[in-house]
Amino acid sequence: MKFSARYPTDLPAWVALKAHYRNEMRGKSLAQLFAYDKARAERLRVESGDLLFDYSKNFINTKTVQLLLKLAREAKVSEVRDAMFAGEAINTTENRSVLHVALRAKMSDQVALLTPGVSEVWQVLDQMEQFVNGVHEGKIVGYSERKFTDVVNIGIGGSDLGVVMATRALHHHRKAGINVHCVSNVDGTQLADLTKILNPATTLFVVCSKTFTTLETMTNAREARRWLVAKRGEEAVASHFAAASTNHKAMDEFGINRDYRFAFWDWVGGRFSLWSAAGISIALAIGMDNYRQLLAGARNMDFHFRTAAPEENMPMLLALLAIWYNNFFDGESMAILPYDNRLDRFPAFLQQLQMESNGKSVRKDGKPVKVKTGQLIWGEAGNNAQHSFYQLLHQGTRFIPADFILTVKSSGASQTQQDLSIANCLAQSEALMDGYSLDKVIADLVGQGMDKKLAAKLAPHKVHAGNSPSNMLVLKELTPFTLGQLTALYEHKVFVKGVIYGINSFDQNGVELGKRLAGPIASAILGSTTDDASDGSTNSSTGALLDLIRTWR
Ligand code: F6P
Repeated sequence: MKFSARYPTDLPAWVALKAHYRNEMRGKSLAQLFAYDKARAERLRVESGDLLFDYSKNFINTKTVQLLLKLAREAKVSEVRDAMFAGEAINTTENRSVLHVALRAKMSDQVALLTPGVSEVWQVLDQMEQFVNGVHEGKIVGYSERKFTDVVNIGIGGSDLGVVMATRALHHHRKAGINVHCVSNVDGTQLADLTKILNPATTLFVVCSKTFTTLETMTNAREARRWLVAKRGEEAVASHFAAASTNHKAMDEFGINRDYRFAFWDWVGGRFSLWSAAGISIALAIGMDNYRQLLAGARNMDFHFRTAAPEENMPMLLALLAIWYNNFFDGESMAILPYDNRLDRFPAFLQQLQMESNGKSVRKDGKPVKVKTGQLIWGEAGNNAQHSFYQLLHQGTRFIPADFILTVKSSGASQTQQDLSIANCLAQSEALMDGYSLDKVIADLVGQGMDKKLAAKLAPHKVHAGNSPSNMLVLKELTPFTLGQLTALYEHKVFVKGVIYGINSFDQNGVELGKRLAGPIASAILGSTTDDASDGSTNSSTGALLDLIRTWR
């Protein structure tokens, strides 16, 4: 399809939204919106399976929603969505399809079946299943015939964050007898700490890298290989290393056993890859049945995204609200606040998903975007965050919309404790919206017996301005299925925003320059050159720092 070349700012809905913000919404109070519309809490919510999205605590009324949906229509979101599912090369800079949705589809869904690789999806899943079951049942064993007890996933970015996020989130669904660890950073500390405690005879390494060339991953993989070979000999490599990659030549060179290789395709973006063979460590952690449930949850959200009416379409609404705040309220950032500690790495996962995808400043046609694109995404598990940065959310000077994520049933601990977590989550979203007014503070202080004068002096320090918007995503329970739904919801949110901004959400050229500069600087540090010009750093600041580093190391 031909992608819309219009700037979002030229779309009639964008112009109308600007006026609507200026004339009707700026300075509105959320409390007022609730007061005018008694049915608001029941009306502004969408349910899909065991996931509920409550968006009532936002600066919106019926007109806002109508205009936002009009914006999506004018930007042709549904048409581009259909083009994605049809396998069209919507990743225009790399001339690739974007088909993570095919990884969790059933063959009968007919998602882009003719795109090369798509018909192999189910074959690879079966191959993964055989391997995962083989490891769990002790049929696939290490060099000395001992059952694997530990899996070390070596990868970074999209080949790490999805694995970390999902294995932590689904820890209560893990297979007994197997521990999954993740190694990503190039400094080597994660691996060094693990090799101190792991037994090489019972450790399986999974090298997870789409390209099999990434500096951090290959450095760690080679170090892991060296450790294994020093302990067990070269012959052990074939039985202790598996890999998920698209680069067969590099896997050959590394010595990855052909039976322990799991393929994926160039139409799977790194940050969308946990549904592919790059998720094999997740399957090793939770078992293949649970992994298939994770895919089923994502498929459920795909179906919702494709078929739900726009006004009931969760990803559409979540994305449009983010645009509303990013571009009309000048909201620079968004906080992600999960009230289930098992989701503690979900904010980090979303950071890559959203910021690598939509942190762009040119449109698909190469022209400057003219509007602010990707927001700053940050967050932390709920109660920990309360004792850390919530001070700024409640009494700081910035406008920060938040997504609360709440699980109702305990994720494998005490329900009474989870109930406390739920209470805190609801209390925080209420406090952010309602605040604590000067009059109330004074009345409370005086009620507690404080002298009126002192109460008036202290009160400003205790005022909470309130009027901060938030979404509430409620999961009945944190299961592989609901995690799949939740993750796919945010993937589609990213997609919708990208379409409206007219950018390509599926490349990541912005990570390349730093990688390229690191090569010569590494040579300079490691001593193959001491000449700043030949180490590639014409920058005198880098040169001066290198001098110091060479002396100190
Ligand atoms: O950070 C850039 C990036 O290309 C990510 O998009 C990707 O997830 C990561 O590096 C890892 O790449 P690979 O899987 O090829 O090792």
